[in-house]
Amino acid sequence: MSTLADIRRPVAAEMREFESYFSKTLRSDIPFFRVILNNIIRRKGKQLRPLLVFLSARLNGTITETTYIAATFIELLHTATLVHDDVVDDASERRGLPTVNVLYNSKIAVLVGDYLLAQGMLISVSKKRFDMLGIVSDAVREIVKGELIQLQKTRKLDIREEDYFRIIRMKTAALIAACTACGTSSVTDDPETIEKMKSFGVNVGVAFQIKDDLLDYTSNGLTGKREGNDIKEKKITLPLIHALREAGPVERRKIKRIIRKKKKSRSEISEVITFVKNHNGLEYAETKMQEYADRAIHILEEYPESETRSAMMEFVIFSTLRKK
Ligand code: IPE
Ligand code: IPE
Ligand code: MG
Ligand code: MG
Repeated sequence: MSTLADIRRPVAAEMREFESYFSKTLRSDIPFFRVILNNIIRRKGKQLRPLLVFLSARLNGTITETTYIAATFIELLHTATLVHDDVVDDASERRGLPTVNVLYNSKIAVLVGDYLLAQGMLISVSKKRFDMLGIVSDAVREIVKGELIQLQKTRKLDIREEDYFRIIRMKTAALIAACTACGTSSVTDDPETIEKMKSFGVNVGVAFQIKDDLLDYTSNGLTGKREGNDIKEKKITLPLIHALREAGPVERRKIKRIIRKKKKSRSEISEVITFVKNHNGLEYAETKMQEYADRAIHILEEYPESETRSAMMEFVIFSTLRKK
Protein backbone atom coordinates (compact mmCIF):
# COMPACT_ATOMS: atom_id res chain seq x y z
CA MET A 1 0.00 0.00 0.00
CA SER A 2 1.21 3.52 -0.79
CA THR A 3 1.94 5.72 2.20
CA LEU A 4 0.28 9.09 2.65
CA ALA A 5 3.59 10.73 1.70
CA ASP A 6 3.45 8.87 -1.66
CA ILE A 7 -0.11 10.01 -2.26
CA ARG A 8 0.78 13.61 -1.40
CA ARG A 9 3.68 13.73 -3.82
CA PRO A 10 1.89 15.41 -6.80
CA VAL A 11 0.72 18.23 -4.50
CA ALA A 12 3.43 18.14 -1.80
CA ALA A 13 4.42 21.79 -2.26
CA GLU A 14 0.79 22.92 -2.13
CA MET A 15 0.18 20.90 1.04
CA ARG A 16 3.16 22.54 2.73
CA GLU A 17 1.90 25.98 1.82
CA PHE A 18 -1.57 25.02 2.97
CA GLU A 19 -0.22 24.12 6.41
CA SER A 20 1.24 27.52 7.07
CA TYR A 21 -1.94 29.14 5.74
CA PHE A 22 -4.01 26.93 8.02
CA SER A 23 -2.08 27.72 11.19
CA LYS A 24 -2.30 31.45 10.45
CA THR A 25 -6.09 31.22 10.52
CA LEU A 26 -5.94 29.78 14.02
CA ARG A 27 -4.85 32.85 15.92
CA SER A 28 -6.53 34.84 18.64
CA ASP A 29 -5.80 37.92 20.70
CA ILE A 30 -7.16 36.24 23.83
CA PRO A 31 -4.19 34.50 25.52
CA PHE A 32 -6.19 31.68 27.10
CA PHE A 33 -7.83 30.95 23.77
CA ARG A 34 -4.47 31.11 21.98
CA VAL A 35 -3.27 28.20 24.11
CA ILE A 36 -6.26 26.10 23.07
CA LEU A 37 -5.84 26.96 19.39
CA ASN A 38 -2.12 26.14 19.47
CA ASN A 39 -3.02 22.85 21.00
CA ILE A 40 -5.34 22.16 18.06
CA ILE A 41 -2.69 23.08 15.48
CA ARG A 42 -0.18 20.77 17.13
CA ARG A 43 -2.46 17.76 17.10
CA LYS A 44 -2.54 17.46 13.36
CA GLY A 45 -4.79 14.93 11.71
CA LYS A 46 -4.11 13.13 8.45
CA GLN A 47 -5.21 16.20 6.47
CA LEU A 48 -6.94 13.99 3.96
CA ARG A 49 -9.57 16.55 3.04
CA PRO A 50 -7.21 19.33 1.90
CA LEU A 51 -5.22 16.64 0.10
CA LEU A 52 -8.35 15.63 -1.76
CA VAL A 53 -9.14 19.26 -2.60
CA PHE A 54 -5.68 19.74 -4.19
CA LEU A 55 -5.67 16.40 -6.00
CA SER A 56 -9.15 17.04 -7.44
CA ALA A 57 -8.06 20.48 -8.63
CA ARG A 58 -4.85 19.15 -10.17
CA LEU A 59 -6.69 16.31 -11.89
CA ASN A 60 -9.02 18.77 -13.60
CA GLY A 61 -6.84 21.83 -14.22
CA THR A 62 -4.37 24.22 -12.62
CA ILE A 63 -4.42 24.90 -8.88
CA THR A 64 -5.49 28.47 -8.05
CA GLU A 65 -5.78 30.66 -4.97
CA THR A 66 -9.36 29.48 -4.68
CA THR A 67 -8.09 25.91 -4.26
CA TYR A 68 -6.17 27.02 -1.16
CA ILE A 69 -9.21 28.81 0.21
CA ALA A 70 -11.32 25.68 -0.23
CA ALA A 71 -8.68 23.45 1.40
CA THR A 72 -8.33 25.74 4.41
CA PHE A 73 -12.04 26.32 4.83
CA ILE A 74 -12.79 22.60 4.72
CA GLU A 75 -10.05 21.56 7.14
CA LEU A 76 -11.21 24.23 9.60
CA LEU A 77 -14.71 22.99 9.35
CA HIS A 78 -13.68 19.36 9.66
CA THR A 79 -11.74 20.24 12.83
CA ALA A 80 -14.79 22.07 14.18
CA THR A 81 -17.02 19.04 13.57
CA LEU A 82 -14.54 16.74 15.34
CA VAL A 83 -14.41 19.00 18.40
CA HIS A 84 -18.21 19.03 18.53
CA ASP A 85 -18.52 15.34 17.63
CA ASP A 86 -16.39 14.40 20.63
CA VAL A 87 -18.82 16.24 22.89
CA VAL A 88 -21.77 14.48 21.27
CA ASP A 89 -20.04 11.07 21.42
CA ASP A 90 -18.61 11.67 24.89
CA ALA A 91 -15.21 10.65 23.50
CA SER A 92 -12.05 10.94 25.59
CA GLU A 93 -9.29 10.63 22.99
CA ARG A 94 -8.63 12.22 19.60
CA ARG A 95 -5.42 12.11 17.59
CA GLY A 96 -3.70 10.32 20.44
CA LEU A 97 -4.44 13.04 23.00
CA PRO A 98 -7.29 13.88 25.37
CA THR A 99 -10.22 15.56 23.59
CA VAL A 100 -11.00 19.25 24.13
CA ASN A 101 -14.05 18.24 26.18
CA VAL A 102 -11.85 16.19 28.51
CA LEU A 103 -8.85 18.53 28.61
CA TYR A 104 -11.08 21.55 29.26
CA ASN A 105 -14.83 20.89 29.24
CA SER A 106 -17.85 20.69 26.93
CA LYS A 107 -18.61 24.40 27.20
CA ILE A 108 -15.17 25.27 25.87
CA ALA A 109 -15.47 22.61 23.17
CA VAL A 110 -18.76 24.05 21.90
CA LEU A 111 -17.25 27.54 21.69
CA VAL A 112 -13.99 26.39 20.09
CA GLY A 113 -15.94 24.47 17.44
CA ASP A 114 -18.06 27.54 16.68
CA TYR A 115 -14.97 29.71 16.41
CA LEU A 116 -13.34 27.35 13.89
CA LEU A 117 -16.52 27.26 11.84
CA ALA A 118 -16.76 31.06 11.80
CA GLN A 119 -13.09 31.42 10.83
CA GLY A 120 -13.68 29.09 7.90
CA MET A 121 -16.72 31.01 6.71
CA LEU A 122 -14.90 34.33 7.01
CA ILE A 123 -12.11 33.14 4.74
CA SER A 124 -14.46 32.40 1.87
CA VAL A 125 -16.43 35.61 2.49
CA SER A 126 -13.27 37.75 2.50
CA LYS A 127 -12.30 36.25 -0.86
CA LYS A 128 -15.88 36.59 -2.11
CA ARG A 129 -16.09 32.89 -2.96
CA PHE A 130 -19.78 32.56 -2.25
CA ASP A 131 -20.07 29.44 -4.41
CA MET A 132 -17.69 27.70 -2.04
CA LEU A 133 -19.54 29.02 0.97
CA GLY A 134 -22.69 27.51 -0.53
CA ILE A 135 -21.19 24.07 -1.16
CA VAL A 136 -19.57 23.84 2.25
CA SER A 137 -22.52 25.26 4.23
CA ASP A 138 -24.67 22.66 2.56
CA ALA A 139 -22.24 19.95 3.72
CA VAL A 140 -22.29 21.32 7.29
CA ARG A 141 -26.05 21.12 7.34
CA GLU A 142 -25.86 17.51 6.13
CA ILE A 143 -23.34 16.64 8.86
CA VAL A 144 -25.56 18.08 11.55
CA LYS A 145 -28.63 16.29 10.20
CA GLY A 146 -26.66 13.04 9.96
CA GLU A 147 -25.48 13.31 13.55
CA LEU A 148 -29.02 14.14 14.71
CA ILE A 149 -30.57 11.15 12.95
CA GLN A 150 -27.81 8.97 14.38
CA LEU A 151 -28.58 10.20 17.89
CA GLN A 152 -32.27 9.55 17.44
CA LYS A 153 -31.67 6.03 16.09
CA THR A 154 -29.21 5.37 18.90
CA ARG A 155 -31.79 6.18 21.49
CA LYS A 156 -34.21 3.66 20.02
CA LEU A 157 -31.53 1.11 19.23
CA ASP A 158 -33.28 0.33 16.00
CA ILE A 159 -31.22 0.90 12.93
CA ARG A 160 -31.46 -0.83 9.59
CA GLU A 161 -28.76 -1.03 6.98
CA GLU A 162 -30.47 1.64 4.88
CA ASP A 163 -30.56 4.01 7.86
CA TYR A 164 -26.87 3.43 8.41
CA PHE A 165 -26.02 4.33 4.82
CA ARG A 166 -28.21 7.39 4.93
CA ILE A 167 -26.47 8.57 8.10
CA ILE A 168 -22.91 8.07 6.87
CA ARG A 169 -23.65 9.74 3.54
CA MET A 170 -24.73 12.76 5.53
CA LYS A 171 -22.26 12.88 8.37
CA THR A 172 -19.10 11.96 6.45
CA ALA A 173 -19.50 11.54 2.70
CA ALA A 174 -21.10 14.98 2.27
CA LEU A 175 -17.95 16.77 3.43
CA ILE A 176 -15.63 14.52 1.41
CA ALA A 177 -17.81 15.21 -1.64
CA ALA A 178 -17.52 18.93 -0.85
CA CYS A 179 -13.71 18.50 -1.03
CA THR A 180 -13.78 17.00 -4.50
CA ALA A 181 -16.51 19.39 -5.70
CA CYS A 182 -14.75 22.52 -4.38
CA GLY A 183 -11.36 21.37 -5.60
CA THR A 184 -12.79 20.79 -9.06
CA SER A 185 -14.86 23.96 -9.17
CA SER A 186 -11.74 25.95 -8.23
CA VAL A 187 -10.31 25.07 -11.66
CA THR A 188 -13.30 24.51 -13.97
CA ASP A 189 -16.89 25.68 -14.39
CA ASP A 190 -18.01 22.57 -16.24
CA PRO A 191 -21.03 21.29 -14.26
CA GLU A 192 -20.69 17.72 -15.55
CA THR A 193 -17.09 17.43 -14.36
CA ILE A 194 -17.97 18.90 -10.96
CA GLU A 195 -20.87 16.49 -10.61
CA LYS A 196 -18.70 13.52 -11.58
CA MET A 197 -16.04 14.47 -9.04
CA LYS A 198 -18.69 15.00 -6.39
CA SER A 199 -19.97 11.51 -6.98
CA PHE A 200 -16.40 10.22 -6.67
CA GLY A 201 -16.24 12.00 -3.29
CA VAL A 202 -19.50 10.45 -2.06
CA ASN A 203 -18.25 6.96 -2.85
CA VAL A 204 -14.86 7.50 -1.21
CA GLY A 205 -16.60 9.11 1.77
CA VAL A 206 -18.91 6.16 2.35
CA ALA A 207 -15.99 3.70 2.09
CA PHE A 208 -13.99 5.94 4.44
CA GLN A 209 -16.67 5.91 7.14
CA ILE A 210 -17.23 2.15 6.88
CA LYS A 211 -13.50 1.79 7.51
CA ASP A 212 -13.71 4.18 10.46
CA ASP A 213 -16.47 2.02 11.91
CA LEU A 214 -14.43 -1.15 11.30
CA LEU A 215 -11.47 0.44 13.06
CA ASP A 216 -13.60 0.84 16.18
CA TYR A 217 -13.49 -2.98 16.32
CA THR A 218 -9.99 -3.66 15.09
CA SER A 219 -7.73 -0.65 15.58
CA ASN A 220 -5.31 -2.15 18.15
CA GLY A 221 -4.81 1.29 19.58
CA LEU A 222 -3.42 2.90 16.43
CA THR A 223 -6.17 5.38 15.57
CA GLY A 224 -5.54 7.76 18.47
CA LYS A 225 -9.19 7.20 19.41
CA ARG A 226 -10.52 4.87 22.11
CA GLU A 227 -11.44 1.48 20.65
CA GLY A 228 -14.98 0.30 21.39
CA ASN A 229 -16.28 3.85 21.83
CA ASP A 230 -19.09 3.20 19.35
CA ILE A 231 -20.37 0.23 21.37
CA LYS A 232 -19.99 2.18 24.60
CA GLU A 233 -22.06 4.99 23.05
CA LYS A 234 -24.72 2.56 21.70
CA LYS A 235 -23.72 3.45 18.17
CA ILE A 236 -24.83 0.60 15.93
CA THR A 237 -22.65 0.51 12.83
CA LEU A 238 -22.57 -1.82 9.83
CA PRO A 239 -20.64 -4.76 11.37
CA LEU A 240 -23.09 -4.89 14.28
CA ILE A 241 -26.15 -4.38 12.08
CA HIS A 242 -25.14 -7.42 10.06
CA ALA A 243 -24.36 -9.56 13.11
CA LEU A 244 -27.68 -8.69 14.78
CA ARG A 245 -29.49 -9.60 11.57
CA GLU A 246 -27.72 -12.97 11.36
CA ALA A 247 -28.09 -13.95 15.02
CA GLY A 248 -30.94 -15.96 16.53
CA PRO A 249 -33.55 -14.12 18.66
CA VAL A 250 -32.15 -15.22 22.02
CA GLU A 251 -28.61 -14.08 21.31
CA ARG A 252 -29.87 -10.90 19.69
CA ARG A 253 -31.85 -10.00 22.79
CA LYS A 254 -28.84 -10.66 25.00
CA ILE A 255 -26.52 -8.45 22.93
CA LYS A 256 -29.09 -5.67 22.70
CA ARG A 257 -29.44 -5.79 26.47
CA ILE A 258 -25.69 -5.18 26.81
CA ILE A 259 -25.68 -2.36 24.27
CA ARG A 260 -28.56 -0.64 26.01
CA LYS A 261 -26.66 -0.50 29.32
CA LYS A 262 -25.39 2.92 30.28
CA LYS A 263 -22.23 1.53 31.87
CA LYS A 264 -20.63 -1.48 30.22
CA SER A 265 -17.75 -3.48 31.62
CA ARG A 266 -14.68 -4.28 29.50
CA SER A 267 -15.83 -7.89 29.30
CA GLU A 268 -19.29 -6.87 28.06
CA ILE A 269 -17.73 -4.77 25.30
CA SER A 270 -15.50 -7.73 24.42
CA GLU A 271 -18.58 -9.94 24.28
CA VAL A 272 -20.18 -7.65 21.70
CA ILE A 273 -16.96 -7.57 19.66
CA THR A 274 -16.73 -11.39 19.69
CA PHE A 275 -20.40 -11.62 18.73
CA VAL A 276 -19.83 -9.34 15.73
CA LYS A 277 -16.78 -11.34 14.65
CA ASN A 278 -18.59 -14.69 15.03
CA HIS A 279 -21.39 -13.55 12.77
CA ASN A 280 -19.03 -12.25 10.07
CA GLY A 281 -19.94 -8.63 10.69
CA LEU A 282 -16.45 -7.43 9.84
CA GLU A 283 -16.27 -9.37 6.56
CA TYR A 284 -19.69 -8.11 5.54
CA ALA A 285 -18.76 -4.47 6.18
CA GLU A 286 -15.49 -4.95 4.31
CA THR A 287 -17.31 -6.27 1.27
CA LYS A 288 -19.65 -3.28 1.27
CA MET A 289 -16.74 -0.88 1.74
CA GLN A 290 -15.00 -2.43 -1.25
CA GLU A 291 -18.09 -1.93 -3.42
CA TYR A 292 -17.99 1.81 -2.78
CA ALA A 293 -14.23 1.98 -3.26
CA ASP A 294 -14.63 0.19 -6.61
CA ARG A 295 -17.24 2.71 -7.73
CA ALA A 296 -14.85 5.54 -6.90
CA ILE A 297 -12.04 3.86 -8.85
CA HIS A 298 -14.35 3.42 -11.86
CA ILE A 299 -14.99 7.14 -11.97
CA LEU A 300 -11.25 7.81 -12.03
CA GLU A 301 -10.82 5.36 -14.87
CA GLU A 302 -12.66 7.84 -17.11
CA TYR A 303 -9.57 10.07 -16.84
CA PRO A 304 -6.40 9.47 -18.87
CA GLU A 305 -3.49 8.02 -16.94
CA SER A 306 -1.44 10.55 -14.98
CA GLU A 307 0.55 10.88 -11.77
CA THR A 308 -2.40 12.65 -10.14
CA ARG A 309 -4.90 10.01 -11.22
CA SER A 310 -2.67 7.27 -9.76
CA ALA A 311 -2.35 9.21 -6.51
CA MET A 312 -6.13 9.47 -6.30
CA MET A 313 -6.53 5.75 -6.92
CA GLU A 314 -4.04 5.17 -4.12
CA PHE A 315 -6.06 7.54 -1.97
CA VAL A 316 -9.10 5.30 -2.41
CA ILE A 317 -7.07 2.19 -1.56
CA PHE A 318 -5.52 3.96 1.44
CA SER A 319 -9.00 4.83 2.74
CA THR A 320 -9.88 1.13 2.87
CA LEU A 321 -6.58 -0.28 4.19
CA ARG A 322 -5.53 2.43 6.64
CA LYS A 323 -4.68 1.58 10.21
CA LYS A 324 -5.54 5.03 11.59
C1 IPE B 1 -12.50 11.41 11.36
O1 IPE B 1 -11.89 11.82 10.17
C2 IPE B 1 -13.97 11.60 11.26
C3 IPE B 1 -14.62 10.73 10.29
C4 IPE B 1 -15.30 11.21 9.31
C5 IPE B 1 -14.53 9.30 10.42
P1 IPE B 1 -10.33 11.63 9.91
O2 IPE B 1 -9.97 10.19 10.16
O3 IPE B 1 -9.99 12.18 8.59
O4 IPE B 1 -9.71 12.52 11.07
P2 IPE B 1 -8.29 13.24 11.21
O5 IPE B 1 -8.47 14.63 10.70
O6 IPE B 1 -7.27 12.47 10.44
O7 IPE B 1 -8.01 13.23 12.69
C1 IPE C 1 -17.72 10.87 12.04
O1 IPE C 1 -18.39 10.12 12.96
C2 IPE C 1 -18.54 12.05 11.54
C3 IPE C 1 -18.22 13.34 12.15
C4 IPE C 1 -17.19 13.60 12.90
C5 IPE C 1 -19.15 14.43 11.87
P1 IPE C 1 -17.63 9.31 14.09
O2 IPE C 1 -18.20 9.67 15.42
O3 IPE C 1 -17.56 7.86 13.74
O4 IPE C 1 -16.14 9.90 14.00
P2 IPE C 1 -14.99 9.56 15.02
O5 IPE C 1 -14.84 8.05 15.05
O6 IPE C 1 -15.41 10.13 16.33
O7 IPE C 1 -13.78 10.23 14.43
MG1 MG D 1 -17.24 10.32 17.13
MG1 MG E 1 -15.88 6.57 14.49
